[in-house]
Amino acid sequence: MTDAQAPGSSLPTGPSLGGRVREAVASLHARNALRPRVALILGSGLGDLADEIATPVVVPAPEIPHYPISTVPGHAGRLVLGMLEGVPVVAVRGRVHFYEGYSLQQVTFPVRVVRRLGAEVLLVTNAAGGLNASFSPGDLMLIRDHLNLPGMAGAHPLIGLDESELGPRFLDLGSAYDAELRRTAHEVAQVAGLSLQEGVYAMVAGPTYETRAEMRFLQRIGADAVGMSTVPEVIVARQEGMRVLALSAITNVAVGEPSVSELGHADVLAAAERMRPRLSRLIRGLVARLQ
Ligand code: HPA
Repeated sequence: MTDAQAPGSSLPTGPSLGGRVREAVASLHARNALRPRVALILGSGLGDLADEIATPVVVPAPEIPHYPISTVPGHAGRLVLGMLEGVPVVAVRGRVHFYEGYSLQQVTFPVRVVRRLGAEVLLVTNAAGGLNASFSPGDLMLIRDHLNLPGMAGAHPLIGLDESELGPRFLDLGSAYDAELRRTAHEVAQVAGLSLQEGVYAMVAGPTYETRAEMRFLQRIGADAVGMSTVPEVIVARQEGMRVLALSAITNVAVGEPSVSELGHADVLAAAERMRPRLSRLIRGLVARLQ
């Protein structure tokens, strides 16, 4: 293994990112032979979907070398490998977020790991605030495109890396959200009688929720929903050559008159949990179509 050569002498050296990923994958190979085809990253309040995986092998995050450990309630960290709708899957429970203080390389580490376990498709979910005036709390939104605000301001998961084993650095994101998977999601939703919005997701760093001026700003630049995750994982999944489908559970609407009660993390978790049965039907239907 080669050590990453840090550009500045004060930066830590050690195993390269590719090397750390290989060590994590080797430890997983040592305990499970399953080769997942589909990876699921489950957002705030949505992680219990992983309980629907049959014949699960659960690997706690602390047992995987270099794997980041979540510090947020509602985000218990582990990988769950098993079968869903007859398809071998791996679920990332308890994603870590930029606002916890992790680097975006750490935030996206699980994506590189599940890719190397064999996953070709990434289904990623999040809780998000609705900005489109036609959205209501409880809506499901398929992400068609994103606004990477932290990335545009310099916090980007591919900054600093140029390890060829990780994939291309100058990556085209013009079709990051797979059009065919989106079509399939609409078909599955229709068959299941679920209504499904589609729109642009803006990522903010968090952890604060938006001011009214920030909400207006995000609406004007074309965002339909806002949240604090997903975009870095999608970028890395694309760099790794995965097909991506992303879904937002609209837990609250971040528009209109000031709400009577203030928005808190507990409200977001509770709203997401109420949406879990519908999200589960959609995801199971999608996975079944990926056979
Ligand atoms: N803003 C940012 N992130 C969120 C929100 C929101 O309103 N709701 C759920 N996650």
